[in-house]
Amino acid sequence: MDALKIIEQVRLVPVVILNKVEDTIPTLSAMIKGGVNVAEITFRTACAKECIALAAKTFPDAAIGAGTVLTKEQALEAIEAGASFIVSPGFSESVHEVCKEKNVPYLPGVITPTEIMRCLDLGYHTLKFFPAGVFGGLKAIKNLGAVFAGVKFMPTGGVDNSNLKEFLDCDKILAVGGSWLSKGTPEQIEATCREAVRIKEGK
Ligand code: 3PG
Repeated sequence: MDALKIIEQVRLVPVVILNKVEDTIPTLSAMIKGGVNVAEITFRTACAKECIALAAKTFPDAAIGAGTVLTKEQALEAIEAGASFIVSPGFSESVHEVCKEKNVPYLPGVITPTEIMRCLDLGYHTLKFFPAGVFGGLKAIKNLGAVFAGVKFMPTGGVDNSNLKEFLDCDKILAVGGSWLSKGTPEQIEATCREAVRIKEGK
């Protein structure tokens, strides 16, 4: 299944910061056991490419993407490693070009109406809203959503299980991203993901 379809179903996008390649399988196995088969592995650590390659090979049914992709080189590395989606904190012309050429979904980050309009001009309708907690959170998304009817947001930054429900209840939000889903021991990660899925399902 295509990565955006999985994200649309799961509605949770763990931001995964891996310092060691050996952490890849325990971290992602715990998330998947907890019901979240999506991972945005960030290019904030030197081993990101290797972690993505291992994750994509080990978990072929999960949506394994790359996050914090700031440059064309990182986008190429991520795609070569098997990333099935690419996320940036903002919009990058060169990352956009690589993703378009390689036909890999790109989720650029936005905050302002002008940034959203720039992304719409280029055909992007699913946008990361980052850092959500700092720039108005749900209230900002609702205001922006009223103007940009066709846009779906992925708020990231400052979300956790305590405020997840209010974000997921908003129909302008495709999915919610954040690092809270990938923090702690494998047992803690599995429990956090399981709880997030429970909140999502309203049980
Ligand atoms: C990101 O990379 O999207 C954010 O740093 C995640 O923010 P959080 O740590 O508040 O979830």
